[in-house]
Amino acid sequence: MPAISASAPGKIILFGEHAVVYGQPAIAVPVNQVRARAIISARPDQPSGWINVQAPDINLEDNLENIAQDHPLVLVIKGVLEATGIGQAPALTVRVTSTIPIAAGLGSGAAVSVAIARALSGFLGRPLMNEEVSNLAFEVEKLYHGTPSGIDNTVITYEKPIYFTKTGLTDQGKMDAFQVSQPFTIVIGDTGVPSPTVAAVGDVRRSWQEDEKTFQGLFANIGEIVTRAKDAIEKGEISTLGPLMNENQHLLEKIGVSSGKLEKLIQTAVQAGADGAKLSGGGRGGNMIALATQETAQQIANALIAAGATRTIITEVKQ
Ligand code: PMV
Repeated sequence: MPAISASAPGKIILFGEHAVVYGQPAIAVPVNQVRARAIISARPDQPSGWINVQAPDINLEDNLENIAQDHPLVLVIKGVLEATGIGQAPALTVRVTSTIPIAAGLGSGAAVSVAIARALSGFLGRPLMNEEVSNLAFEVEKLYHGTPSGIDNTVITYEKPIYFTKTGLTDQGKMDAFQVSQPFTIVIGDTGVPSPTVAAVGDVRRSWQEDEKTFQGLFANIGEIVTRAKDAIEKGEISTLGPLMNENQHLLEKIGVSSGKLEKLIQTAVQAGADGAKLSGGGRGGNMIALATQETAQQIANALIAAGATRTIITEVKQ
């Protein structure tokens, strides 16, 4: 049996993080420059049911039964076996590699889940549909992140820009059709500070519980920005997006998820010619994004590195 591989992109949230957890819309786009890949190979020398997992990026190589049973890789592999209805799989190796930085707001966890779900279900001859793949990745995210909105698994599964609204506490959200009529360029800058989303989301929840009125107002303001941004992207009015990013960042600061390093990089990007910039994802650390043009992108990336960014990615947002 030939080896089967599948890959899935990283992602960034353009507008609406955190507020999306409270029912406001958000916009996310895939980042194809970084990807997670899963390769499934047959091991006819081993008994059926034998599954070996190799994830060199996290120094993991072991048989499935020896790995903690709540490990995300175990959860996704078992989830695929269940979803495909295959009780006993032929002996196989699942190898996962990824160029997506971990805990940086680029969706590495969801991308690994999606790549494994596609490759393994394909290998077993029962390829899962997009909706099933996304659901599986969402279930794994839920066990790890508590109350994820579902935006990561959705944008990474469908690999296109999405306008996303969470529909319930435990349900997957809904994805609306969304046209990018004019491509635009984003520079992503990594603070190098790992920031698990679950901690930032938990802190925001505590602040919201303490002062529900203020936080509902901040989330609603973010929601309005997202709606205006969607409209601008659909009409190709890219110059509107920079000021909207700045406004969104200002509200994220009020919510308490920004940081000194994020703000330094955001300021640097704007001084280097970006039309707007904001943090992206959970915040505190992780990545920031800046609106650039093909002409200004490299100079903004260079300025970010000079200001302490550990890595930059230039990406084109298009349909
Ligand atoms: O980009 P990440 O994985 O850090 O996503 C965080 C987005 C939040 O809105 C903060 C949480 C969520 O589940 O949507």
